[in-house]
Amino acid sequence: MIAPVQEPISSVDSSSLAPPLSEALISLGNLRHNVREVQKLVGKSRRIMAIVKANAYSHGIDLIAPALVEEGISDFGVANINEAVHLRKLLEDFPAQILAFASPLLSQIELYIKHDISLCLGDFETLRLAEALAQKFGKPIDVHLKIDTGMGRLGVLPKEALLLAHAVERSEHLNLKAVFTHFASSDSDKAFTQKQLSTYTALVSELEHSLGRSVLKHTANSGAVITEKNAYLDMVRPGILLYGYTPRTGLKSPLSLKPVMQLQAKVVFIKTVERGTSISYGRKWIARKRSRIATIAIGYYDGYHRNLSNKAKVLINGKFFEQVGAVTMDAIMVNLGNDTSVQVGDAAVLFGWNEGCGANVLTDKEGTIVYELLCSVSPRVHRTAVE
Ligand SMILES: Cc1ncc(COP(=O)(O)O)c(C=O)c1O
Repeated sequence: MIAPVQEPISSVDSSSLAPPLSEALISLGNLRHNVREVQKLVGKSRRIMAIVKANAYSHGIDLIAPALVEEGISDFGVANINEAVHLRKLLEDFPAQILAFASPLLSQIELYIKHDISLCLGDFETLRLAEALAQKFGKPIDVHLKIDTGMGRLGVLPKEALLLAHAVERSEHLNLKAVFTHFASSDSDKAFTQKQLSTYTALVSELEHSLGRSVLKHTANSGAVITEKNAYLDMVRPGILLYGYTPRTGLKSPLSLKPVMQLQAKVVFIKTVERGTSISYGRKWIARKRSRIATIAIGYYDGYHRNLSNKAKVLINGKFFEQVGAVTMDAIMVNLGNDTSVQVGDAAVLFGWNEGCGANVLTDKEGTIVYELLCSVSPRVHRTAVE
């Protein structure tokens, strides 16, 4: 085990803090395994841009990014310039290619130049601003031109894509490195994904023909890595697969993935209650017989969703127990029945790599997606790397 890297309260000296009550164990071994699985599927020579936005889907970028570099990854996708600058500093001496997906504000463009971050470009206004600043600082900006082929979030619409691409190409201060797009439903709608892909490929072929050179092409998120080989092109952009999950439960996948995060918390209190005793806010669970009830130090502030109230199971010392009553801000209760083996201080697994404990088991119960549950795990939860 490696020592915890993130402090629960960063301004306080960690040596003065008690051991954490809730912990996200981050298996770097499982992360490495997942990277190799994806690399095997897409082919050794194909680049992988690891999507590490949102603090590496809440796993802790400081733990995840160096391990990815050790696995041969040198392309990274993040959400915005602040995440990009953090990553650049983290990988100080490593020549990582970092792309920030958000459309930048004027005040941010300087940081792209200073820290050598690739710009996601989808409109003429940003092009003009970026060009002017790159000229002012005498340093070119690498551009990944984004075409909105059907996601409807960011990027230039197909009808203007070639005009914008040529404008970037003409600029002395911008380098047109790549042209990319993002799929809206690659895990569930093959026809729409193929329509997006054909809009994209038609535009890029025309562009490359007129430029007389090729550009870097990337489209495939995790869903497309699994379902759409034609979308692999020069580079794939998986996120959730690296963290050990497919985009949705039930999606048939050739990959054998292992969850990277195991969310655990300590049993902090145990009592025996009589039949008829209610548990937690709103009295949504009543004991049907005399039962031991354990209180576990994790709640919705930590990212354990309140929608899981009375729905989930928790693994303690190899046995599953039902979570009972409303999830509170800092604690949940678990019905131990007449089990006497569980003791205060034992670790309860909320989700992770143990059999039957996948995060998707919980998200299927509450009707959300694994992405959301992983990203909910809050800074109060210690991230600890394990190999
Ligand atoms: C542009 C872009 N590419 C790739 C991804 C990775 O998606 P996924 O985690 O589904 O692989 C994301 C995440 O939303 C994204 O915004």
